[in-house]
Amino acid sequence: MRQVKMIRHLVIFLFLIQIQELVNGQPNGPLMDSVIRTLEGPATTLYQFDTTNPNSVSFALEGEVEGIFEILNQGLLRSTKPLDRETKALYKLKVKTLNAAGHLVEGPFSVDIIVEDINDNLPAFNQTEYTGEIREQSRPGKQIVTVYATDADDPETPNGQLVYKITHQIPDPYKVMLFQINNKTGTISTTINGSLLLKKETHDQYELLVIASDLSFSDNVKVIIKVTENIWKNPKPVTIVENSTEPHPMKITQVQWNDDSAIYELQQRERYPKFPFSIDEDGNINVTEPLDREERAQYIFYAFALNENRVRLSRPVDIEVNVEDINDNPPVCPGLVTHFEVQENEGLGSSIGTLTATDIDEESSRNSLLRYRLLSQYPKIPEDGMFRLDLYTGVFQLIKNGLNINEVDLYVLRVNVSDEGVNPSALSTLCEVHIKVIDINDQIPIFEKSDYGNLTLSEDTPMQARVLQIQAYDGDQPFTGSSEIIYAIVEGDPLKTFAIDTDKTTNKGWLKIVHPLDYESKAEYNLVIHAINPEPLVSGVSYNDSSITRLNIIVTNIDERPYFEETVYQTQIKEDVPIGTLLTKIVAIDPEGDDVIYELNGDRRSWLWINETSGEIYSNAILDRETEPHYYVEVTAKERRNLSMKSSVSFQLFLDDVNDNAPKLANGYAGAVFCHPLSKKESVFVEAVDADTSPNSRRFRFTLGVGENITRDWTLSFINGSHTKLNMNHHDFPPGIIRVPIIVNDNGKPPLESTVYASVTICTCSSGNQCSSPPLDDFGRPSVGMALGILFGVLAVIGIIVAAVLISINKKKKKENTPKKVAKVDATSPTETITLAS
Ligand SMILES: *[C@@H]1O[C@H](CO)[C@@H](O)[C@H](O)[C@H]1NC(C)=O
Ligand SMILES: *[C@@H]1O[C@H](CO)[C@@H](O)[C@H](O)[C@H]1NC(C)=O
Ligand SMILES: *[C@@H]1O[C@H](CO)[C@@H](O)[C@H](O)[C@H]1NC(C)=O
Ligand SMILES: *[C@@H]1O[C@H](CO)[C@@H](O)[C@H](O)[C@H]1NC(C)=O
Ligand SMILES: *[C@@H]1O[C@H](CO)[C@@H](O)[C@H](O)[C@H]1NC(C)=O
Ligand SMILES: *[C@@H]1O[C@H](CO)[C@@H](O)[C@H](O)[C@H]1NC(C)=O
Ligand SMILES: *[C@@H]1O[C@H](CO)[C@@H](O)[C@H](O)[C@H]1NC(C)=O
Ligand SMILES: *[C@@H]1O[C@H](CO)[C@@H](O)[C@H](O)[C@H]1NC(C)=O
Ligand SMILES: *[C@@H]1O[C@H](CO)[C@@H](O)[C@H](O)[C@H]1NC(C)=O
Ligand SMILES: *[C@@H]1O[C@H](CO)[C@@H](O)[C@H](O)[C@H]1NC(C)=O
Ligand SMILES: *[C@@H]1O[C@H](CO)[C@@H](O)[C@H](O)[C@H]1NC(C)=O
Ligand SMILES: *[C@@H]1O[C@H](CO)[C@@H](O)[C@H](O)[C@H]1NC(C)=O
Repeated sequence: MRQVKMIRHLVIFLFLIQIQELVNGQPNGPLMDSVIRTLEGPATTLYQFDTTNPNSVSFALEGEVEGIFEILNQGLLRSTKPLDRETKALYKLKVKTLNAAGHLVEGPFSVDIIVEDINDNLPAFNQTEYTGEIREQSRPGKQIVTVYATDADDPETPNGQLVYKITHQIPDPYKVMLFQINNKTGTISTTINGSLLLKKETHDQYELLVIASDLSFSDNVKVIIKVTENIWKNPKPVTIVENSTEPHPMKITQVQWNDDSAIYELQQRERYPKFPFSIDEDGNINVTEPLDREERAQYIFYAFALNENRVRLSRPVDIEVNVEDINDNPPVCPGLVTHFEVQENEGLGSSIGTLTATDIDEESSRNSLLRYRLLSQYPKIPEDGMFRLDLYTGVFQLIKNGLNINEVDLYVLRVNVSDEGVNPSALSTLCEVHIKVIDINDQIPIFEKSDYGNLTLSEDTPMQARVLQIQAYDGDQPFTGSSEIIYAIVEGDPLKTFAIDTDKTTNKGWLKIVHPLDYESKAEYNLVIHAINPEPLVSGVSYNDSSITRLNIIVTNIDERPYFEETVYQTQIKEDVPIGTLLTKIVAIDPEGDDVIYELNGDRRSWLWINETSGEIYSNAILDRETEPHYYVEVTAKERRNLSMKSSVSFQLFLDDVNDNAPKLANGYAGAVFCHPLSKKESVFVEAVDADTSPNSRRFRFTLGVGENITRDWTLSFINGSHTKLNMNHHDFPPGIIRVPIIVNDNGKPPLESTVYASVTICTCSSGNQCSSPPLDDFGRPSVGMALGILFGVLAVIGIIVAAVLISINKKKKKENTPKKVAKVDATSPTETITLAS
């Protein structure tokens, strides 16, 4: 690699020498104030001064000669010792000519020798080893240590610019970099992974190998990083007994930042109706009032450590507070009175009903574990203790014979429901239970009709519509579980398409639809409906066919429109997709199973094409977000057999920006005009635009382009992402139009670059700062004079090339034993100024 570079340098070097020698064998020029650039290195010939004054017989050198420079009498300036930029980069000399008598003839002229850098210095770290310390779980990017290397080469050139890099991390337990280095500043910090994975327990020390490199050389150094414990961590969950009688505020836990400097702050994770916690400057966390578990059983919140500017020092720690239950809630009856029914001839031991009380103390603890005790029965007819109540389940049973509806039709029972809590003590409640004695259920429900015949419904009958009323009658005691009727569809409706609503007072039933009918999947239902009582029948009586009815439902077809699988189709895609890219596939289904064909409506820009049979939509043109970022069209699906049966859906295409527009000068940039002669250095605002959206636009980078005299005459100063300021370096411009090339890079991925030309016109002005001759009229069209000039110029160039080739062939032979002489010489070059054709 380095060899390739050296060869390349050598080639350029030789090429430069060649050019100089093509002209006259030596970098040379008339005796005048000059600037000579030379690369550092061994003694060499620098410049040949020519004089035409016949009186000048010898040259003399003064100034910072320092025994290094000499000038021969033919005007050949050379160095006699090696030049080292790092020792001295600029020598200010003066050259003059003398006559035979040794008196001054010409000069003195100033000659500045600028020694240019070559990469002859190695980078070197200023310490043999660096150490740093990091707490585990520090935030990503936390700075640990900065390494520093120096390179004596010119920092303006890559020779002296160092790039830092971590080459090894030892150990590397997770096979990811836990540390990163800023390649310019050498600052080492934690990566996101480092912030998560650094643990003192597993590895308390890491060793990094860091290199600093310039263009060709590098130095490396060891960096030791110690991992220290982080005491900023989640404290153990805290448990507080609810309704505490301790004095409040009461300390419950503590957090601590790694040093003393932090300010602490609590923050709720979710918004609680009340937040009775506080933290003091030492990180003590207090609860400010007694808590109620039944209101909230757990609080989870954050504690933050902040610096004096209230910036978070690290991630927050979680504080978990659990509220411990005490038995502070009594059981609650299900209602004011609980009603049960018992049939007059109810068998002994059968269950009558279950009393279910509730207790909001902590579930499945003794504080909510309930016990049921029967306290009293009224009336005690025919005797007390007719019923049994299960202590644990609350189930009532009839345990004695002798119910007689004509003597007692209602028993009132009082029940003690208590919990088993001991802390502070068991709590109890009295619940009232009414048991109604009802007639025996010896009548079965009987349908008014055993067959409701055929019912025709069209398949678009709306849901929940009541489509038929049915009725059965029961001869038992009204308003009891013996006469109440429950209708159930027992056959013919596997998918539960139908349901029956019942009116409890009249026992009327309404058949309704609860799932959409669909002729195509089921066209006929043969329903069998049962009518039964919630109360069991007495023994010896059973339901027979009179409690059953039938109903045929015939579904009629209607031709339905095709429907789409989705309510809207959306696609998001890059604007630069090639023509013919599949964007989406629209699927419409005809319920009758007919073929569907698709068409596009509203494709104003003809950007799309749809496959009529498959519904696939393709791009049909180059899409352009800058023309239309959101492109909406309508897709229509039609039944092939009846094109008037159709539905439409919206297809929305969202185009993502790609950086496909290069920056250009903002509209309306007409160029700047200044009057000649300029009285001061002027500057010009230049604005660039680019049709892409952010982030691809509006964050331009401006640099001066290449051109003669451009960097000498102009500089750019930074304003912002859209504007730059073009400044004159001097105000000594002749009249003319100068087109200053400016390279503009946008911020896209990949970036686009373009060169724009800011035109600056310098013209002779009439009064009122108006150009006396309109300067832009003839711009770009050469006049006769210019045309001749160009012609001669071309001929001259051809001549020079021919001559040069000949000379060069000659020289080559001579040169084999001539030492390399001259470095790069900067004779001031012509500016790219377009002069006015008058
Ligand atoms: C190395 O350079 C850095 C940055 O200039 C400086 O802070 C540090 O003290 C230097 N170390 C030594 C040993 O000179
Ligand atoms: C230095 O780092 C920056 C950003 O972190 C990166 O863009 C740049 O390419 C790096 N330079 C080198 C020479 O690695
Ligand atoms: C962290 O490490 C994982 C592999 O373990 C890697 O995929 C990921 O990119 C890393 N994250 C960063 C931000 O470097
Ligand atoms: C809290 O305890 C007191 C007695 O210490 C009691 O009077 C009060 O009802 C209890 N409050 C709650 C919400 O349980
Ligand atoms: C926290 O409670 C303790 C007593 O437990 C008390 O001394 C301290 O002042 C309280 N701090 C705050 C901020 O309320
Ligand atoms: C209810 O039962 C509990 C637990 O046996 C008892 O402590 C309480 O005194 C009883 N209450 C009544 C009113 O009998
Ligand atoms: C009901 O429809 C069926 C055909 O589904 C038919 O055979 C029957 O006669 C119809 N019954 C009545 C009462 O219309
Ligand atoms: C069903 O039983 C009732 C009496 O319980 C009777 O009146 C009716 O005729 C019976 N129906 C059939 C179809 O047997
Ligand atoms: C449309 O799609 C169908 C099914 O994918 C395919 O057979 C047919 O060739 C396509 N038509 C055109 C014109 O591409
Ligand atoms: C096509 O559908 C329309 C609208 O439903 C209907 O009026 C028409 O009779 C149908 N034509 C045919 C041929 O089925
Ligand atoms: C950039 O600077 C120009 C000139 O000062 C100003 O007009 C423009 O608003 C600035 N743009 C932004 C984005 O700040
Ligand atoms: C460049 O500058 C030199 C020295 O001022 C001048 O002679 C030459 O004409 C300039 N070139 C152009 C194209 O203006």
